[in-house]
Formats: sequence, C-alpha cells, structure tokens
Amino acid sequence: MDNDKFLHEMHINLNVRGLKQSATLFINEQSNLLIEQGRKIYKLGLGQSPFPVPDIIVQSLRDHAEEKDYLPVKGLPALRKAISGFYSRHWGSEYSIDNIVIGPGSKELLFLLQLVYYGELIIPTPSWVSYAPQAKIIGRNILWIPTRKENLWKLTPHDLDKTCRQDPNRPRLMILNYPSNPTGYSYKKEELEELAAVARKYKVVLVSDEIYGMLDHEGDHHSISTYYPEGTIISGGLSKWCGAGGWRLGALAFPDSLSWLANALAVTASETFTSTSAPIQFAAVTAFDPHPELEDYLARARKILSALGKQCNKILNTAGINNPDPHGGFYLFPDFSNYRDKLIAREIYDSETMCKRLLDEKGIACLPGSEFGCSAFEYIFRLSYVNFDGRKAINAATNEEVDETFIKKYCPDTLKAMEEIADWFRSL
Ligand SMILES: Cc1ncc(COP(=O)(O)O)c(C=O)c1O
Repeated sequence: MDNDKFLHEMHINLNVRGLKQSATLFINEQSNLLIEQGRKIYKLGLGQSPFPVPDIIVQSLRDHAEEKDYLPVKGLPALRKAISGFYSRHWGSEYSIDNIVIGPGSKELLFLLQLVYYGELIIPTPSWVSYAPQAKIIGRNILWIPTRKENLWKLTPHDLDKTCRQDPNRPRLMILNYPSNPTGYSYKKEELEELAAVARKYKVVLVSDEIYGMLDHEGDHHSISTYYPEGTIISGGLSKWCGAGGWRLGALAFPDSLSWLANALAVTASETFTSTSAPIQFAAVTAFDPHPELEDYLARARKILSALGKQCNKILNTAGINNPDPHGGFYLFPDFSNYRDKLIAREIYDSETMCKRLLDEKGIACLPGSEFGCSAFEYIFRLSYVNFDGRKAINAATNEEVDETFIKKYCPDTLKAMEEIADWFRSL
C-alpha cells in the first residue's frame, strides 16, 4: 500500500470508529464501472421509491419557494399538526404536536435519538443497514435479537421476553421496523399486540420505524403505538410513500411520557441542523393533510408494488426456494441456502461473494444478507424491485388494470432481472 493510501485509510479508521465502506456503496460503484464498460446492469440495490412526488405536493413546494426564514427547531407548527392528524386518521395513534420533531430525514433523527437516549439499544436482525453503524459511531452497546426465516424474520414476544428477562430493569430502546427493509414482511395486529405487552412489562422504549407503513400492499398497516401508546415513538417521513427521499424530510412522534426525550433531541438538533429546509416543510403540510389525490396515488402505488412483488417472487420461486410473498414496501429477501453445496462447489462461501458473482456473471446488482445482520454464510440477499419507470407505471394505473399484463408491459426489466437470477441458480 502506498503512503497516501495508508494515511487515507488510517484517517478513515480514526474518524469513524473503524466503520468500513458499506457493501451498498461497493456494489453501486462496481455497477457504474460495468455500465461504463457497456454492460447491461439490473440495479436492484438501491432502496428508493420509483414513483414521482405527487403533483399537488410539487405544486405546494413551488408555491413556497420563497419561504426563507429559519423555522422552529422542532419544525413548522402547521406541519407538526398535519403529522399528528395523519397518524390519528390513518393508524388511530394520538400524538401531541408539542412532541413531534421534524428533521432532514428520519435517518438523522434516529441518529440524534440514539445520541440522547442513555440506555441499551436492541435491534432485531435482519434490519436496515444504518441503525447499527449509527450506534457504533455514538459508541452505544447493541443487543441483537436474531429472528428466524420460518417466522418471516419477525421478532417473537418470546424472544423479546427472553432478552429483557436477563436484566429486567435496564433502560432499553428497541427499533422495530415494519413493513421491513430488508425483508418486505410486516406484523399482524395480534403480533404487535403481543410484542407491545412484553415491551410494556419491561418498560422498553420502542422506536417504531413505520417509514413504509403507507406502502403496506393491502393498505392495512397497523401501528404498535395503538397497543403501547405510552412507550412508542413513531419514526416516519416523506421518503418512501411519497417518492421524496431527496427532499430529506423525516419526523419522530413522541408520546407525552417521553416529551423530555423529544426536548433533549431538539437541543441536539438546535446545535446541529438548526431546522429543516423551510420550503420543504411547507410543502410537506400538503403531504400529511387529507387529499383525495394522495389516497388515489397511494392506491395505485400499492397495487403496482403488490402485483410486481408477487410476480417477481413467483419467478424466483421457480428456482425452488418457496419464498412467501412480501407484505409491503419494495423489497424481497430470498434465501437460496438450499443451493449451498452447489455454491460451495463454485467457491462461493458467503452471501457477499454470491452477490459479486451475480453482478459479474448476470449483471444483477443486489445486497448481501450479511449487510443486514444475517450470517454471512446464509445465502440470502436483498432485492429492491424498483428498476422501472415509476412515473409511466403510476400514470398508466389510472385507467389500466394492474395485473400480470400490466406488470409485463411496465416493469419488463425487473421481471427480466428475476429470470436471470432464477436461471443463474438453476444452472449452478
Ligand atoms: C427502514 C428505514 N428507516 C429509515 C430510513 C431513512 O429514511 P429517510 O432518512 O430518508 O427518512 C430508511 C431509508 O432507506 C429505511 O429503509
């Protein structure tokens, strides 16, 4: 290694506690290199909504382009009121506007929350890629609770109880994300009710990351906050259901009993990002207020994601893996461990190598399960089935039926990618 490179790597290690470049970035850079070389690459690595931001929200942003003042640290009062109304209307959860904090993306807010909360962090795995690195940057201890494929990777009340029982009075914060990134699965009402009972028993503070909640494929999302209102912080924002990841707007809603935590977080916000972009906050009021256009947009988005998720899964299952259909969001998390012997015969010993080979040999860019906390030796990966023209598809869904023909017409590349994956495994 030359001196400059050595110093550069040492600098990185010193500054971010040894965190390495994520596989997400690696796969992305590698994909771009291959694209430059003229290869056809199916980009299934990025978790971004394919759909455009709804017109009425874009118009609202235009109308507020001249808003230039700093806004209150916790956020524009009208927006906090709209978010409070949104949770009450959709999920029956009641949050006071004083306890809602707006930030530049929920990711930043989750980071600050971990910073100000003093307890231990519980994360069921597999889980979203950023929770753990955030805890690592802050120096927080993480307690992992592994889940099982047979249970659709969902946390069971039994496992939560077993974990908390070891030290029942320890202050804890647990992040529960559903519909899940990476798995695409969500919890049923009864499952949430049972988990809530255990969380209450041990006074665990829950961070319910419901950023994909409005993308439950049946429009039937339930929030654990309705069963454990006094201990649940809802995390959400505009990024997923509204196609506005780049707008950077997220929100945390705290129960009254945790208003001290909301206030502590606001102190750190005041010393870091100050307040979220003013025009974006004004436009977001339109997103969280009731509008028939938004209900209609969401209904179409759900139909497309549901039909496409099922169709993709059906193709993958032709390779004999029996993956159940997803419940929400836009991810699949297939497990190809029944190909273990054949993969090992090709010197593929872990999920990261499997993803590199899929990229090299089939042009499939996806993320290894190990990035989400699964064992590297389980042959699992995450696919984001969003590599299609979302604007064209959601517009067409206004007057065309969203069925298999529709999916073939508007998402051909996504289906082709699934065929390539299934082919690759079958030919091992
Ligand atoms: C599960 C989950 N939570 C939180 C986020 C952060 O979203 P944002 O910072 O855009 O609000 C993401 C984004 O990918 C996510 O998948």
